[in-house]
Amino acid sequence: MKRILVTGGAGFIGSHTVVELLNSNYEVVIADDLSNSSMEVLNGIEHITGQYPIFEKIDLKCKNSVSELFNKYTNIESVIHFAAHKAVGESVQNPLKYYENNLSPLVYILQELHSLQRPIHFIFSSSCTVYGDTSISPITEDAEVKSAASPYGNTKQIGEEILKDTCKSNNFLNVISLRYFNPIGAHPSNNIGELPQGKPQNLVPFITQTAAGLHNSLTVHGDDYPTPDGTCIRDYIDVVDLAKAHVLALKRLINGENKENYEVFNLGTGKGSSVKEVIQSFEKMSAMSLTYKVGPRRYGDVVTAFANTSKAEKILGWKSKTSLDKSILKAWNWEKKIRNIKNK
Ligand code: WQD
Repeated sequence: MKRILVTGGAGFIGSHTVVELLNSNYEVVIADDLSNSSMEVLNGIEHITGQYPIFEKIDLKCKNSVSELFNKYTNIESVIHFAAHKAVGESVQNPLKYYENNLSPLVYILQELHSLQRPIHFIFSSSCTVYGDTSISPITEDAEVKSAASPYGNTKQIGEEILKDTCKSNNFLNVISLRYFNPIGAHPSNNIGELPQGKPQNLVPFITQTAAGLHNSLTVHGDDYPTPDGTCIRDYIDVVDLAKAHVLALKRLINGENKENYEVFNLGTGKGSSVKEVIQSFEKMSAMSLTYKVGPRRYGDVVTAFANTSKAEKILGWKSKTSLDKSILKAWNWEKKIRNIKNK
């Protein structure tokens, strides 16, 4: 049976994608260092799919460990590479942690795949942050890739370049890079969701944790931007919709439908929502009011970023289906579950 290696498969987007892969009868191996997740996620996947996934705890920054992984699983046909740190703010504070963690594993995995000397399908977890601070939204895939606004975004730009150059110099690799906008939400079964380790950097988990009482208040990073309500605008895409796009992209490669050996697709809703609109959505869906204060702008933030998703709709046959409100409610239900909150 051909296997799909899912690096970072115990993480937020990775675990939701593993659920969709198992439900589509693919054989999966998860490789994860659990730096931003826990073994509990594997139980959640089993509750949903009835299958406990094959799991390898591994530090992909260790070249020998990566070789051992491929020596153990000799029938890997495809790789979905999620494993990466992904917090824009943190990457500004600690760039070397991001360059090492987000790039060396990619190189080691590609070196192993090259030594296999057989066709390999590769899905890369990329990001809208590769576009840098574009003035134009909705953003299309052929938008100019400006210098990234953060080291995190730069690691995704460099990752795409590494893949493009590898595709150019070899014929073993077929790649689709999926440029996510802002993933949010949780699985409707409430068995898996986002599990940020430590203080969350991202807006939605910070909102749900504040509502759960883990923080005194939310800080809105700046309300003096040139947007209708002064706060930054993003494209908040539901994690389950995002996961389904990975299965469609994988099928495109496995069925040999890709026109080039390197393709890129934006994954978003095509709609922009401001920070304040996300807060209002939470308050509506939770029937709670959220305390927040306005602080200074956060370095590395772009003003507006939301997707033009027509390419994924036309070619992958994929469109996001879940509203912001529904994703926010699922995120809140998940937060209440993991904090054992019953009365809110
Ligand atoms: C969103 C907005 C903040 C926290 C994310 C991922 C990154 C990539 C792109 C996939 C910004 C504001 C946040 C808070 C706030 N996705 N904010 N108070 O920076 O767009 O990046 O999407 O690859 O991996 O990190 O997301 O949720 O951090 O911020 O005001 O406590 O919310 O300033 O305007 P970002 P985010």
